[in-house]
Amino acid sequence: MARLKITAVIYLTLGILGLAAAVLVPVVISRSGTAVLPIWVSAASPGPLSSAHAFLGVQCESCHTPYQGIKAASCITCHAADALVLAKQSTAFHATIGECQGCHVEHQGAAVRPIKMDHAVLIEASLTAARDRISPGAPAATGMEALRRSLVAVTGQGPAKTGEVLECASCHSFRDKHRTMFGQQCADCHATETWKIAGFLHPSPKSQDCNQCHQAPPSHFMMHFAMMDQKITGQSSARVEQCYLCHQTDSFNAIKGVGWFKMH
Ligand code: HEC
Ligand code: HEC
Ligand code: HEC
Ligand code: HEC
Ligand code: HEC
Ligand code: HEC
Ligand code: HEC
Repeated sequence: MARLKITAVIYLTLGILGLAAAVLVPVVISRSGTAVLPIWVSAASPGPLSSAHAFLGVQCESCHTPYQGIKAASCITCHAADALVLAKQSTAFHATIGECQGCHVEHQGAAVRPIKMDHAVLIEASLTAARDRISPGAPAATGMEALRRSLVAVTGQGPAKTGEVLECASCHSFRDKHRTMFGQQCADCHATETWKIAGFLHPSPKSQDCNQCHQAPPSHFMMHFAMMDQKITGQSSARVEQCYLCHQTDSFNAIKGVGWFKMH
């Protein structure tokens, strides 16, 4: 009996101490900032910061606003006008995006750069903007379920293909390997994880349709073609559109009958 009572007292004391700590730690942190309680703070951190942000040490509030999590404003304090990011086609959206989390991870250690592109964040932002045009002030969409509901609200349909929400070419036309020959609707053929297409098999090197999918460089429409390309290959009567007479399908620098050839 007596032993039971003692353990009960111990548990009760521990419980009270735990409660006191649970109340006191957040109070102290929110009054004085996290730097006064480094041990508690590192216990609460999910992992070491990236090397770029390691200098922030235990100043958690540089990024975390108590009770509100990560707010774009905290990041923007230090990253207001990154000229290179704003000037790059695919990241120019940084000028207007009001959300940083989702594409900018943290706490994965010094070796992991805090960047992880997620097109779903872009879709959500576009849909929020579209919904605000339709019904201003409606609660913000969060998570995939909200995203699906907004899709129905905006398009009147179920989940749409990403290409119906995002204009891929507005961010990626500079990467267009097909030099506009395949049009602007990249999402007809591409998903957002990789430009590779599983199962794509290039037409045979015996194909004579090369020019339906490939464009010759400007040099082929100048004197260069007669003076260099026709001479190098010995194809003195080849027309520009007959790529297959001169080119292999692994690289445009692999010239039939010549091997690897790089002009400049
Ligand atoms: C450079 C900015 C930055 C600093 C400094 C920072 N964090 Fe974070 N933290 C983040 C980001 C961004 C996430 C979201 C992680 C993700 O999405 O992968 C996060 C996530 C977390 C989470 C997971 C829960 C949540 O809110 O998503 C905890 C807990 C956390 N941080 C604690 C801390 C503590 C404790 C410190 C101080 C030692 C700290 N952080 C310093 C940026 C920061
Ligand atoms: C106290 C200032 C400060 C805050 C707050 C801050 N950063 Fe940084 N951040 C830096 C510095 C300094 C660097 C390293 C130099 C640079 O790349 O500008 C950096 C680097 C980065 C990089 C590039 C990392 C790399 O490996 O190339 C990204 C992305 C980034 N920060 C995003 C964020 C995001 C998102 C937040 C908010 C969660 C944030 N930062 C909060 C100062 C800050
Ligand atoms: C939809 C995803 C997405 C969102 C949202 C986003 N970013 Fe980025 N951000 C990226 C990607 C991807 C890169 C890397 C671009 C590259 O490598 O060219 C980047 C690059 C950066 C860099 C430069 C990193 C470097 O190499 O120097 C900074 C700083 C940055 N973002 C800050 C922010 C801040 C601040 C916010 C919130 C206002 C934000 N980002 C929102 C995707 C995003
Ligand atoms: C608002 C700008 C924006 C839009 C719209 C956009 N993306 Fe992206 N996308 C990015 C950024 C930023 C990255 C990462 C950095 C980079 O590759 O430039 C990226 C990366 C990618 C990658 C991975 C590239 C790689 O090498 O890892 C693919 C594939 C991709 N996007 C396809 C698409 C497709 C398909 C669409 C249309 C459904 C689309 N994107 C719409 C900004 C955008
Ligand atoms: C009609 C279908 C189609 C359209 C539309 C299309 N592509 Fe492609 N794209 C392909 C195929 C097929 C490949 C070869 C994929 C492979 O090798 O796995 C490819 C390859 C690519 C690659 C190179 C992948 C690699 O790593 O070798 C990039 C980059 C690319 N496309 C960008 C774009 C962009 C940007 C757009 C829109 C402006 C676009 N594509 C529109 C079919 C298409
Ligand atoms: C008469 C033979 C011939 C024909 C026909 C021809 N090419 Fe070429 N092409 C060459 C030679 C030789 C080179 C390497 C020397 C140079 O850069 O001009 C070359 C270079 C190229 C390059 C540049 C490779 C680099 O260095 O980056 C591309 C791309 C290319 N050709 C595409 C095409 C396409 C597409 C067609 C058909 C529409 C075509 N060529 C038709 C002979 C030819
Ligand atoms: C039905 C369309 C199609 C036809 C026909 C076709 N190609 Fe391609 N080819 C592609 C696509 C898509 C890619 C991958 C995207 C890219 O790299 O341009 C590609 C890639 C290539 C590459 C690699 C380019 C690089 O930069 O890595 C070469 C070289 C090439 N093709 C040559 C040829 C030649 C020569 C012919 C004719 C014998 C031919 N292709 C016929 C669609 C086609």
